[in-house]
Amino acid sequence: MREGTAPLIHREDYCAPVYWIRTVDLCFDLEPAKTLVTSKMQIERNSAVAHGPLRLHGEELTLLRVLINGESVSFRQEGDELVIDNAPDADFALEIRNTCAPEKNTALSGLYTSGGGFFTQCEAEGFRRITYFLDRPDVMAVYSVLLRADKARYPVLLSNGNLLEQGALDNGRHFAKWHDPFPKPSYLFALVAGDLVAREQRITTRSGKDHLLQVYVRRGDLEKTEHAMNSLIASIAWDEARFKLPLDLERFMIVGVSDFNMGAMENKGLNIFNTSALLVSPATATDADFNRIEAIVAHEYFHNWTGNRVTCRDWFQLSLKEGLTVFRDQEFSMDMAAAPSARAVKRIEDVRNLRAMQFPEDSGAMAHAVRPDSYVEINNFYTPTIYEKGAEVVRMYQTLVGREGFEKGMTLYFERHDGQAVTCDDFAAAINDANPGSELSTRLDAFKRWYSQAGTPRVQARGRFDASARTWTLDLAQANPPTPGQDDKLSQVIPVRMGLLSHAGAALPLQLQGEDAAAGTERVLVLDKAEQSFTFVGLDEAPVASLLRQFSAPVVLDDGLTDAELLVLLKFDTDAFNRWEASQRLALNRLLPVVRSGEELTLDTAYIDGMRAVLRSDQLDSAFKALALTLPSEGYIAEQLDVIDPQRIHAAVGTMQLQLARALRDDWQAAFEANQVAGGYSADPVSSGKRALANLALQMLVLDAVQTGNDIWPGRAYQRFKDAGNMTERMGALTALVFARAGLAQPALERFHALFKHEPLVIDKWFALQGRAPELDGQVFARVKQLMQHPDFSLKNPNRARSLIFSLCLFNPAAFHRTDAAGYVFWADRVLELDAINPQVAGRLARVMDRWTKLAEPYRSAAHEALARVAAKPDLSSDVREVIDRALN
Ligand code: PHE
Ligand code: ZN
Repeated sequence: MREGTAPLIHREDYCAPVYWIRTVDLCFDLEPAKTLVTSKMQIERNSAVAHGPLRLHGEELTLLRVLINGESVSFRQEGDELVIDNAPDADFALEIRNTCAPEKNTALSGLYTSGGGFFTQCEAEGFRRITYFLDRPDVMAVYSVLLRADKARYPVLLSNGNLLEQGALDNGRHFAKWHDPFPKPSYLFALVAGDLVAREQRITTRSGKDHLLQVYVRRGDLEKTEHAMNSLIASIAWDEARFKLPLDLERFMIVGVSDFNMGAMENKGLNIFNTSALLVSPATATDADFNRIEAIVAHEYFHNWTGNRVTCRDWFQLSLKEGLTVFRDQEFSMDMAAAPSARAVKRIEDVRNLRAMQFPEDSGAMAHAVRPDSYVEINNFYTPTIYEKGAEVVRMYQTLVGREGFEKGMTLYFERHDGQAVTCDDFAAAINDANPGSELSTRLDAFKRWYSQAGTPRVQARGRFDASARTWTLDLAQANPPTPGQDDKLSQVIPVRMGLLSHAGAALPLQLQGEDAAAGTERVLVLDKAEQSFTFVGLDEAPVASLLRQFSAPVVLDDGLTDAELLVLLKFDTDAFNRWEASQRLALNRLLPVVRSGEELTLDTAYIDGMRAVLRSDQLDSAFKALALTLPSEGYIAEQLDVIDPQRIHAAVGTMQLQLARALRDDWQAAFEANQVAGGYSADPVSSGKRALANLALQMLVLDAVQTGNDIWPGRAYQRFKDAGNMTERMGALTALVFARAGLAQPALERFHALFKHEPLVIDKWFALQGRAPELDGQVFARVKQLMQHPDFSLKNPNRARSLIFSLCLFNPAAFHRTDAAGYVFWADRVLELDAINPQVAGRLARVMDRWTKLAEPYRSAAHEALARVAAKPDLSSDVREVIDRALN
């Protein structure tokens, strides 16, 4: 934990290290209270840069001795650095001995204990909390690791690479020796020691090599690892097939731990996972959990090439590995979904997530570029912008050079940079150089503004039809609003995938003026100027434009379409993403005016008929229907407004939901009945789509019934909750009762707790559901405060803290933003409390106030007061300090 005013670090200040560390021999004597670490490093001066002292990072360590070539040497400690002024010119051996205190490490960065075992987390700068080191990603070394620990308490001893030797020692202790042949940055180091069991699988990959795959968990959790193992096997096969990237290790291990700051970590050959991102069974996890775990297992596995074999030169390049790896896991999930409609569902979910998380970030105090120019605390930059927007940038390369061109670019990237620590520019160059003459090659520099400019570009599109010339001209304009520190922006390169429809719904051939013939019914226009026009010829009527198909660029589109035109798209567009988008736009067109005016909402028949047609369609699949009939989230609605009144938004959405429930009651009932899934559980897209629609239908039916005082549907929901054969249905029924505030909600919640009291991940769901229940008269807020006292609640476990507190503060705007400011007081208290335990988690929570300046009064002033209160605390972590300072400036 670094305290006080930490300095701003600038990308432009990057300097290569003065020394390289080529090999490291680590020895650990593992004890929870005090672990002894001996590190023997082979060090070399970097001849490319000027001489200077050797400066090693170290935090919260007790230094015991420093030897150079076996002799003691003079050194000094400067802040968190160990400085050796007179290191030899020639290569030398440096030996350091220190201790650290895993048991006291509640920050969960470095070496810590959890559930009676030892675990490490070294990204981004955790290795320096284990021993003194050049803890930066461009210093890559070969690691040998000797672990010694009590054999009874820690029968399993793991580290990166291959197991060389293990055996017994005196006093009930034992040892294991590991060697990782691949040079790696310190952030990819890992060790695990504990009483764990493994699911094992031997596989032979395409090249004929044999590999051992292992998933280590605590004894009772073994049966919840089958899906993760299957996902790993599928990921390995996919990366070989799609990108010709093989598994390079004899042994690939995954370990689950229940105290973890993030989802998972790609340590070389030894991935460490939050149990919430690893363990599933039909009885304890939902369809969404199954999909998420498949994606995370894939993500970490894919890092083995994009991140580990080729890593980042410095942390400003974080998106080089994260954006690319998210793109890869998204592509993998789409390929696993197989059917075109299931691919589209995945794309819709990804875009919904981008808009819910990244767009707000781009319009708030912490807005930053995909490749930021400065930071105070790197932990604050594991963000939706680096990850999800970064993935969209990679997707745009693929759109511009084509799928094959992109694969060629990846091949060139690995040919050039395998074993190196590189930059986003190196990636851009590889994709570009592999694709001469592509749409990218003529505008590479402009394209790279996606890395340097923060903010979500706005694209305006308007059509002009000329009946006599039979032409239709599309006028496109782009603008990127100012973000902190970036007032003026240059035009970006925006691929606009598009098609044109007749009003009767036919896909029209696309021929641009000057072309000899039409080129199909879909194409990609490239917008790279502030304003640009494209004229299509041979049209007999003004077409309906379907723009930004598949969400071909991370922008906000204003296409000026009327409701009638949106209804054409909803019915006929060949692009499923834009069909869904039309459903959301139709909903927004009804919500936004009443939120702005404060008037009562009354749904019109055009909208209701449109939604009814979706629900009744025999062509659309259930997963799509559920997405189209789900109203935009309150957060996304807030995003559309200049002044945000969370209570008004909540009221409008509540009313609309109720009217939709009522108007389509018979159809909801029919949908509920038609979407029952019989037989054994499978999380395949068809079954999970049916469950999603049945759950939504049930939610609507219970909502309507509670309002009209009818007991039938609440009773049925309770029955379904009791009898459910899987968590998706059980949770769906419970959610329906809780969200409708049915009288049966409370007994159901109690029963749920009793049923799952020994399943921490399910208890997280129990807290989370109560934290995000729709607010009414402050009851939800009061309940959350009460739940903080529940014996199962703890701030120390990040999953548990997030389940209750983040659910309220991040995902329940109406419960959080109160006219009496109690929500903000609660927030400030929790930020301060958490900061003393775990600055990374506290930093996340601090971000809730990112967009406080857009709040209506009285929220705005009260939010400011709460921020000022946190800011006044003198010893904040650099994590929280940076977030709060940026919010206040
Ligand atoms: N690198 C991890 C991932 O994206 C995320 C992570 C970052 C985990 C920092 C822990 C700490 O896969
Ligand atoms: Zn990652």
